[in-house]
Amino acid sequence: MYRYAALVLFLAFGIVFQLSHGTEVDVKDKDDKLCLYANLMVNFSVSYDAADNKTATAEFELPPKVSTVGSECGSSSSMLKLSFGEGHTWSMNFNTVDGKKYQADTITFSYNLSDTTFFPKSTSNDTLTATVKPHITDVGLDTCYSCNSKDTIEADAVNQTLWNVLIQAFVINGNKSENITSCPADVPVTTVTPTTHATSTAAPVTNATTAAPPTTTPTPTLPPPSTGKYSIKPDDNSTACLLATFGLRIGVKQADKYQEMNFDPNGTTVSGSCGVNSSELVLVSNTMTITFTFTNDTKKFRLHALNVTGKTSSGVAFSEANTNLSLWEAAVSSSYMCNKEQNYTITGLLTIFTFDLQVQPFGVKKGVFSTAEECQADAESFLVPIAVGVSLLVLILIVLLAYFIGRKRNMATGYESF
Ligand SMILES: *[C@@H]1O[C@H](CO)[C@@H](O)[C@H](O)[C@H]1NC(C)=O
Ligand SMILES: *[C@@H]1O[C@H](CO)[C@@H](O)[C@H](O)[C@H]1NC(C)=O
Ligand SMILES: *[C@@H]1O[C@H](CO)[C@@H](O)[C@H](O)[C@H]1NC(C)=O
Ligand SMILES: *[C@@H]1O[C@H](CO)[C@@H](O)[C@H](O)[C@H]1NC(C)=O
Ligand SMILES: *[C@@H]1O[C@H](CO)[C@@H](O)[C@H](O)[C@H]1NC(C)=O
Ligand SMILES: *[C@@H]1O[C@H](CO)[C@@H](O)[C@H](O)[C@H]1NC(C)=O
Ligand SMILES: *[C@@H]1O[C@H](CO)[C@@H](O)[C@H](O)[C@H]1NC(C)=O
Ligand SMILES: *[C@@H]1O[C@H](CO)[C@@H](O)[C@H](O)[C@H]1NC(C)=O
Ligand SMILES: *[C@@H]1O[C@H](CO)[C@@H](O)[C@H](O)[C@H]1NC(C)=O
Ligand SMILES: *[C@@H]1O[C@H](CO)[C@@H](O)[C@H](O)[C@H]1NC(C)=O
Ligand SMILES: *[C@@H]1O[C@H](CO)[C@@H](O)[C@H](O)[C@H]1NC(C)=O
Ligand SMILES: *[C@@H]1O[C@H](CO)[C@@H](O)[C@H](O)[C@H]1NC(C)=O
Repeated sequence: MYRYAALVLFLAFGIVFQLSHGTEVDVKDKDDKLCLYANLMVNFSVSYDAADNKTATAEFELPPKVSTVGSECGSSSSMLKLSFGEGHTWSMNFNTVDGKKYQADTITFSYNLSDTTFFPKSTSNDTLTATVKPHITDVGLDTCYSCNSKDTIEADAVNQTLWNVLIQAFVINGNKSENITSCPADVPVTTVTPTTHATSTAAPVTNATTAAPPTTTPTPTLPPPSTGKYSIKPDDNSTACLLATFGLRIGVKQADKYQEMNFDPNGTTVSGSCGVNSSELVLVSNTMTITFTFTNDTKKFRLHALNVTGKTSSGVAFSEANTNLSLWEAAVSSSYMCNKEQNYTITGLLTIFTFDLQVQPFGVKKGVFSTAEECQADAESFLVPIAVGVSLLVLILIVLLAYFIGRKRNMATGYESF
């Protein structure tokens, strides 16, 4: 089959790029084009027989300076081979799956026990090899595999911990892909990325099947979302007729899996309309479209409908809407404010969390918020110190009163007072 012969490129060199962290290498094909990229950190823990019938454990890191001689790039299988120190090699084999994905099949680590810097007092001077299976599967072709989480792979005598891994095998046309397939361990912490697509995105392409956490696992806590400031103008020359400020987090349940995502205001397109009885705010980020519909029933306004359409970080689409809400109620000529974190169940599958919320969908004057009506949670946190203060004052009064009454009595009975 000439197809194979023609497609299998081979490779002979590749020197080292040293970066602030990790081991970064570019492997190039015979046309000097990038064909395999890797930036990763590996810690080794190796047990070996040392003098005096003892078992010793050597711990060392993959050094930043390595050689990629012996690495190979093919159309359906590739090998990254890193050599370092006195004859140690670490290699990883990649294969494509169904022409759409690729995976790493084996890691082969050979270590030279004669190297006394790593293996002092070794009784053997052999070179031993440990072969293990990495947990790198379902990586989309033309995407980088990214895994910042630690992954420890154990074998009889060797433990390897990989982290801060960014690898692309099967690089197309010498250009490293901006698209990323995140490992399952990283996925819950994914944040929404801005609409500009030239920069690297963090949207994983895979199904996150391998190590999907069971539903009972508490989701890791996300950082608070950034606060977005949104406004709608009826036309270019006038001031805003709708104002909204908030940080937003979305919680979605899909097939027994619950996931939370922060909404990133950076790169979001804002649109909408202001009406007499109904106003609308539409936010479009590159992963989500959110429509807020507010109504004015003469005296009060409220958030009446919410529609959230998007994709989770694992790429599964969702669309949830409720058109019968009564949230964020306040008088029509004022704004609604809630600084405390709040959660609202929108549908059985959708929850939203708001932070530093203030909205005014009707009657905005001069482009600024009118008087705010605060939510109960804010009001309560305001009331607590007052309540504490008042009760302290009452306590002091009682003590003073008791003192004076006691003093009077003592004087009346003739006892000494002090
Ligand atoms: C890797 O090894 C270095 C030095 O041996 C150590 O400082 C570091 O904590 C290790 N990291 C992990 C993840 O084990
Ligand atoms: C590998 O890890 C296991 C579990 O943490 C530990 O019991 C074993 O001693 C380790 N082996 C080496 C060579 O560090
Ligand atoms: C090591 O163990 C063997 C048998 O287990 C014994 O014959 C030998 O004397 C031991 N050597 C040392 C240095 O302890
Ligand atoms: C193993 O290490 C020894 C001592 O550093 C060195 O002389 C030898 O060439 C190394 N073996 C290989 C295969 O590189
Ligand atoms: C190391 O190798 C040399 C020859 O390659 C051999 O003569 C020597 O005995 C070996 N040393 C040990 C500790 O096995
Ligand atoms: C990579 O991202 C771009 C833009 O974000 C998209 O058009 C393209 O289809 C993606 N490629 C893959 C393989 O996911
Ligand atoms: C991806 O997920 C869908 C639905 O959850 C499932 O039907 C499909 O088999 C999964 N694909 C892989 C490659 O795991
Ligand atoms: C906006 O203002 C400019 C000049 O101030 C004027 O030419 C234009 O007609 C105005 N547009 C609208 C929609 O009022
Ligand atoms: C928004 O995103 C752009 C491009 O990704 C970035 O340069 C900018 O710093 C971001 N701004 C904020 C406020 O995060
Ligand atoms: C709210 O609705 C009432 C009656 O429909 C209307 O009179 C009033 O102008 C509206 N308020 C705003 C700010 O649009
Ligand atoms: C929610 O929005 C999506 C797209 O923006 C639309 O297809 C869907 O019909 C909307 N759902 C409701 C209930 O309005
Ligand atoms: C929602 O808020 C209530 C109190 O307002 C709190 O008890 C509950 O834990 C919150 N739920 C989540 C999922 O944060």
